[in-house]
Amino acid sequence: MRVAVVLTAAGSGSRLGHALPKALVPAGGVPLVRHALDRLLSSGVVDEVVVTVPGEHRSAVEDALAGAGGGAHRSVDTSEEAAGDAPAVPVRCVVGGATRQASVAAGLAALSPDVDLVLVHDAARALTPGAVTARVVEAVRAGASAVVPVVPVTDSVVQVDDGVTPVDRATLRAVQTPQGFDRRVLDEAHAAARGRAGDESSAATDDASLCVALGVPVTVVDGHPDAFKVTTGQDLALAELLLAGSRP
Ligand code: C5P
Repeated sequence: MRVAVVLTAAGSGSRLGHALPKALVPAGGVPLVRHALDRLLSSGVVDEVVVTVPGEHRSAVEDALAGAGGGAHRSVDTSEEAAGDAPAVPVRCVVGGATRQASVAAGLAALSPDVDLVLVHDAARALTPGAVTARVVEAVRAGASAVVPVVPVTDSVVQVDDGVTPVDRATLRAVQTPQGFDRRVLDEAHAAARGRAGDESSAATDDASLCVALGVPVTVVDGHPDAFKVTTGQDLALAELLLAGSRP
């Protein structure tokens, strides 16, 4: 199965309060999107990558990704430098949409025709270990149509509406990325979502939920605490600590 990743990096990251879009914000001196790409490629199971980028920062993201995996930007690597090494993984950038869901759709449209297994991963989950990616791919290869990495919920959880109702956290899991799909299933889920599109605020925050809406069963595999999403300054500080090798 040919495995492609749609790596979403087109968000503004306004909650981080940084002048740069989140994907370009550095942790340990390296942009988050580059951390994410390096770890995806370290899994050894990825054949091509399409990165969704903010239009006005496209060349900056391309610069940040140059040389990753021995061949970022190069669909066909003929350089002498790469001769004898593992084949370069082609990495291409496409301009994302107004929502994450629209960005993923733009990435899906840019994949090679022979891709049959698609991972969707958030650049914001920059430190996701390659082992998580490998687990997700293995589960899709084993026959699952949609796979999500999950971690237990450690806080007590309540539903707040008219009143406050405790929810049994033993049955809850937090969902991470990369999420993995049979390509035809994910294409169909996005097409169906476009068909019922309302306002932008109703766009899905992940891809498995679009599959659930189609009645597709979702398989879970173990995620990892390091796959947390960098959203706030505190998350960025945690990423810096982890990269410095000091776990709080
Ligand atoms: O905003 P949020 O943190 O949920 O974004 C998750 C991921 O989706 C981030 O990696 C972000 O760059 C990406 N995204 C995107 N296009 C958008 C909005 C978010 O690619 N329009």
